[in-house]
Amino acid sequence: MLIKFKSSYEKIAMGLLAYMPDEKNVKKLQQTIKKYEDDDRWQLYLWKEAEDIVGLVGVSLLENETYQLNHISVNPSFREEGIGKKMITCLKKIYKGNVVPSVQTTLFFVKCENEKGRE
Ligand SMILES: CC(C)(COP(=O)(O)OP(=O)(O)OC[C@H]1O[C@@H](n2cnc3c(N)ncnc32)[C@H](O)[C@@H]1OP(=O)(O)O)[C@@H](O)C(=O)NCCC(=O)NCCS
Repeated sequence: MLIKFKSSYEKIAMGLLAYMPDEKNVKKLQQTIKKYEDDDRWQLYLWKEAEDIVGLVGVSLLENETYQLNHISVNPSFREEGIGKKMITCLKKIYKGNVVPSVQTTLFFVKCENEKGRE
């Protein structure tokens, strides 16, 4: 289940964000989380599996009214179980298909798109 980020989840969200290759630096991580907290155009969601928060997706609203997937990560203990794909499906439902990848998320996003095309 995809839930909206709130500040009480800040630490777990930072832990998940840190799995993104370009978010290894603590300063950068803090800036990113602040952006999601302060800027209404930036929206962060967490994936809850039973009682555990194990995944994260974050988007930002672009000028052309599409939402760019900036961040996607899953706790390594829960990978390869389809959670990444489910998060993208849910995000597309929330934003009515209006989601595009960023440079950092394009590989996984395109993989999901290609699989959808084959279904
Ligand atoms: C990418 C990520 C979110 C996938 O989460 P997940 O829950 O394991 O994904 P799913 O179980 O839904 O899908 C697994 C499939 O995605 C593939 N995959 C994993 N990481 C991938 C990546 N970076 N690019 C493309 N495909 C990837 C797996 O090989 C697997 O393929 P298969 O279905 O053909 O076996 C997770 O690996 C992660 O957190 N990575 C670190 C953060 C990151 O690099 N994010 C940017 C990704 S572009």
